[in-house]
Amino acid sequence: MAKSKTSYSHLDPNAPIGIFDSGVGGLTVAKTLRQMLPQENMIYYGDTKHLPYGDKSVEAIQEYAIRIVNFLLQEECKCIVVACNSATAAAFNVIQKRIQDSIILVDVISPVAELVSCSIHHRVGVIATKATVGSNLYKKSINKKNKKIEVRQLATPLLVPVIEEGLSESNISEALLHHYLDSKKLQHIDALILGCTHYPLVSQEIRKFYNGKAHVEVIDSPSIVSHEVRERLRAASLLKQDGVAGKMQFYLSDITPNFKKTAKKFFGKSLHFSLKTLDASYNPADPKY
Ligand code: DGL
Repeated sequence: MAKSKTSYSHLDPNAPIGIFDSGVGGLTVAKTLRQMLPQENMIYYGDTKHLPYGDKSVEAIQEYAIRIVNFLLQEECKCIVVACNSATAAAFNVIQKRIQDSIILVDVISPVAELVSCSIHHRVGVIATKATVGSNLYKKSINKKNKKIEVRQLATPLLVPVIEEGLSESNISEALLHHYLDSKKLQHIDALILGCTHYPLVSQEIRKFYNGKAHVEVIDSPSIVSHEVRERLRAASLLKQDGVAGKMQFYLSDITPNFKKTAKKFFGKSLHFSLKTLDASYNPADPKY
């Protein structure tokens, strides 16, 4: 696990953890993190106005991601979790450059790739958005540590819109999953990485697809990533210690019925959602980036 030697002594353990995604996907990470660290204050930003990220250009995803990171820095977060594979794949370098080790930064790809590279798997499938598959980041990160693992990637772009529509556990998601998982590329795999934070919302259906057919370990990232966040905060002595339950705040670029429904399903009915449009303040030519 990545443990930084950077000093974070200027940070307040009571400061919030910022988490972001294009939509409901990052809630799968936020939920596990909440279960693991119930005392932590969390700010969730869902960029619902711009989703899906997975079909956008690298430049567009970088612009959206930097706007959100700027907002979370203004909110004085002690840690930012990029709970989006597409944003990690397209924008992690610029986010890292923007943050400059001033706070803890956790992405969703490297902890999973690290774990898989140490596993006994031989042939690992990755399903993800076009942006994530196009970046090749899972393959590169796994093979950097372990060249013996064959990584097979498949872009599954229709899953995010279906999940955002609240259509998981329906005939539509079932047909779509069969279409994708039957792909030649995913034959004879022994593990499948759900390379999009939306996909844990259909992980039961994916497990059902393989049940009785093939032994495929389905690897979804929320618990792996949450574990990484906890260890990074612990190593930096930044875990909130007062035992008081943390606050959860939700900011959205568009307040959509499905986001509200999914968030309430995960965190209970009494949630408040704030509309927060972010300035287009990212200019790669600006020396601060
Ligand atoms: N949940 C995100 C991911 O992990 C984004 C999906 C999208 O907006 O296309 O890739």
